[in-house]
Amino acid sequence: MSDTTGPPGEILLSRERIHERISELGRDISRDYAGQAPLLIGVLKGAFVFMADLARAIDLPVEVDFMAVSSYGNATRTSGVVRIVKDLDADLSGRHVIVVEDIIDSGLTLNYLRRNLQSREPASLEVCALLVRSGRQPDELDLKYVGFEIPPDFVVGYGLDVAERYRNLPHVYRMDTAAPHA
Ligand code: PRP
Repeated sequence: MSDTTGPPGEILLSRERIHERISELGRDISRDYAGQAPLLIGVLKGAFVFMADLARAIDLPVEVDFMAVSSYGNATRTSGVVRIVKDLDADLSGRHVIVVEDIIDSGLTLNYLRRNLQSREPASLEVCALLVRSGRQPDELDLKYVGFEIPPDFVVGYGLDVAERYRNLPHVYRMDTAAPHA
């Protein structure tokens, strides 16, 4: 099936820029976790593309696992309660864990995940987020690894979707719409 709709907007982050930044993140993580085998936890679905590239940029014996969480409804948005749809296979106890996210918006998902994962007693727990939408988080999030801080626009591509489309695009695009993410 051909796609006649064209790109969804202007390129915000090109494939080249993304890959260059991921190489730097991979080097940072390889240095910080030297001698260890960190466990990367990807948060589905959006993180699957970033996870694949990040894992290959790390020069350590990493392991990978995935979680899927449901978006909170309006009623629970302020409390940040997230339902775990797919839990991890791995036991976190004593592991050096890095949560891999494609984008942090309000920070509610990450806050919930961090509390949940911390209760499983990992040796350490850090976050690597490709994108952080600036000015959207009410609380300080303590993100050890961040790819890019971006304006609070609606972005798609490189794992990010609108109605499940555009995840396979190689660049991150700013959508031609004012619709908020998530
Ligand atoms: C995105 C993203 C984070 C969450 C961030 O997932 O991957 O998990 O939203 O938003 P927050 O900081 O406001 O909590 P989304 O719900 O779009 O699901 P998807 O990854 O399956 O597309």
